[in-house]
Amino acid sequence: SSTKLWGGRFTGSLDPIMTQYNESIYFDRIFYSQDIRGSIAYARANIKTGILTQHEFSEIERGLKAVYKEWESNTFEIKSGVDEDIHTANERRLGEIIGKEISGKLHTGRSRNDQVATDMRLWLKEQLDRLEGYLVDFLKVIAARAEKEIEALMPGYTHLQRAQPIRWSHWMLMYGSFFASDLQRLRELKVRVNKCPLGCGALAGNPFDIDREAMAEELGFDGLIMNSLAGVADRDFVVETMQWGSMLMMHMSRWAEDLIIYSSGEFHFVQLADAYSTGSSLMPQKKNPDSLELLRGKSGRVFGQMAGLMMSVKGIPSTYNKDLQESVEPMLDHVKTVGDSLQIATGVLSTLTIDTDAMLASLTPDMLATDLADYLVRKGVPFRETHHISGQVVALAEQKKKPMDQLSFEELQGVDRRFEKNIIEVFDYSKSVEMRSAKGGTSKKAVLEQIEAVKKALEGG
Ligand code: ARG
Repeated sequence: SSTKLWGGRFTGSLDPIMTQYNESIYFDRIFYSQDIRGSIAYARANIKTGILTQHEFSEIERGLKAVYKEWESNTFEIKSGVDEDIHTANERRLGEIIGKEISGKLHTGRSRNDQVATDMRLWLKEQLDRLEGYLVDFLKVIAARAEKEIEALMPGYTHLQRAQPIRWSHWMLMYGSFFASDLQRLRELKVRVNKCPLGCGALAGNPFDIDREAMAEELGFDGLIMNSLAGVADRDFVVETMQWGSMLMMHMSRWAEDLIIYSSGEFHFVQLADAYSTGSSLMPQKKNPDSLELLRGKSGRVFGQMAGLMMSVKGIPSTYNKDLQESVEPMLDHVKTVGDSLQIATGVLSTLTIDTDAMLASLTPDMLATDLADYLVRKGVPFRETHHISGQVVALAEQKKKPMDQLSFEELQGVDRRFEKNIIEVFDYSKSVEMRSAKGGTSKKAVLEQIEAVKKALEGG
């Protein structure tokens, strides 16, 4: 039909299912403001090329601002079956407002191919700034809690078996370390998202010597995509965002899993605030960590969409192909899911309470078996030997059915004569923790250093 933008050479009309299959307006309308800003920049640059007079530009700008107002006030009427996507919708409406005589000049030398890539990058740039803010907030809560609750001790685990005593703050800062790297990666990827494809045309470039740098600057980009074929073919900026977000959600999922375990009755290390838990419709006593389970569950959805987009892109011949439209919805869902998840995680962490007694009660003397071995190491005994000796002490305690620290001095000496009276001092969780004072360890000094490292990461240092 001739109402279509590309109607010139087409005579038949589309199968109604094809119309619906092809259109993207119901999700890419989210780019309305980016699309309008891009068009204004493009029109302005076309004064210098001689395509538009100053008056024509002013008319286009006036019209586009009117279209923008309609979107903002929710009065823009989408013409079903005509407005294929946000680009065609805006141009159709512009023509109705200022007349086709002038509006018909706007698209000179431009294609929806460079237009959609520009819209998506502009939109994503803003969203990544928003996500960066959420990630910074989350890291701030981690750092603040780590500082405030630095005295709390808990078991550290390997294989989910009690291993050695650590500070609760040290556990939080493990994730601080992961998420600080995610923040660094986000800042690095933003550099690549922040390149402007406008002026690449359909694929081969602009024939009117348009000033691409001026457009990029007006739109707040940091540079250009330097190959016009790449400008329209590239969705790496979406893929990379989703790879970044997938890694972040992988960390988030482990964090959530730890807290789900720690919030169980058997552990009781943490209690979630009511605001992030739900009850059971059947069992009155239940308080379930749904927020954490959703964080863990949504990570799967994020990874799947990332893999799905890579599948869609990998076999596409150069340059633009309609397959690329399939990059929009995953991007929108990804940004929403990651943004929501970061806000939920921040809420959960800033409101949960900890049970320091339960944490302490979970520490057992056998978790100091390494410290017992280290005691003899400090007397010059090779570690491989002390490991064996300490193992014999563990076995003896098991055999006598009492905790390791309840063995008598004589019993300990029976295992190795080099144990002296002060061996009793080894059975002290705080001391064990404070011994680990080398950088990165669980001593107070080392943990305070880690807090500083997280704070420094926030500044981009
Ligand atoms: N809606 C399209 C997309 O998202 C815009 C580009 C259409 N270009 C074209 N040659 N059909 O990819």
